[in-house]
Amino acid sequence: MIVAFKRLRKAVLPVAGLGTRFLPATKAIPKEMLPVVDRPLIQYAIDEARAAGIEQFCMVTGRGKTALIDHFDIAFEVEQNLAARGKEEALAMLRSAAMEPGSIVTVRQQVPLGLGHAIWCARAFIGDDPFAILLPDDLVLSDTPCLQQLAEIYRETGGNVVAIEEVPMAHVNRYGVLKTGAIEGNLVEVLGLVEKPQPEVAPSNLSIIGRYVLRPEVIEHLARMERGAGGEVQLTDAMAKMIGGAPFHGLKFDGRRFDCGDKVGFLEAQIAFALQRPDLAAAVREFLKQYQVN
Ligand code: G1P
Repeated sequence: MIVAFKRLRKAVLPVAGLGTRFLPATKAIPKEMLPVVDRPLIQYAIDEARAAGIEQFCMVTGRGKTALIDHFDIAFEVEQNLAARGKEEALAMLRSAAMEPGSIVTVRQQVPLGLGHAIWCARAFIGDDPFAILLPDDLVLSDTPCLQQLAEIYRETGGNVVAIEEVPMAHVNRYGVLKTGAIEGNLVEVLGLVEKPQPEVAPSNLSIIGRYVLRPEVIEHLARMERGAGGEVQLTDAMAKMIGGAPFHGLKFDGRRFDCGDKVGFLEAQIAFALQRPDLAAAVREFLKQYQVN
């Protein structure tokens, strides 16, 4: 018997963070507008979601994030100017990134109470539907978009799926960490989840990175506003409460993840993404030779 689960069509993008690690660059612009090569981080996340079949988007914003909303509007003056000057290629690029009217909404997280609280702020948008979460700081370079890989597992199981990767044991206190059950290839059964454990007590070094497909029940758990690690309302804690209900898996995704919330990770992403670009790769390879130290 084939069971049809509700189709995954919605994504929530939490973008309320202050970006203090990138000051002064983020003094007047949101950190999600920082470009990797020539695309802002937020657009990588939206493009990845669209590639995975997502049709409706909700950005959870905060004060000072207007540029993110403008970015997904039509830039009428820019387009007119490009058209007048015959810049067809640039025009086509802008138009291909244009959003379907009404497909993107925003809600505000008025107070920074944590990732779980940010997701809860999108509860009216989520309703009774499964939804994806993309944290734009985590950028994934892969042949099949990372969220699409998760969406395929959701289509098969109808359950919760998070993207995971092994991190050095000393770094587990930066992540949500899995207690693992059965392992089948890249798919890991989740038996427990702990947010930012100390290495001595961490159940594994398999850590969640910023891609999730969740069932809407998570909102009921978030609504209790229980405080976890760092005194914040943690998404990981609410997800942990869903274990034992619907299937819950971690997927060791194919691809490379860059932590663009970190300066070194951000710089590495610039190089890795530039090397993927036919128009830039040769020149980048050439200049990199000058920096080889050994
Ligand atoms: C958040 C989550 C954490 C996850 C991480 C992935 O942490 O709380 O579980 O592993 O994103 O990037 P943050 O980076 O907001 O501290």
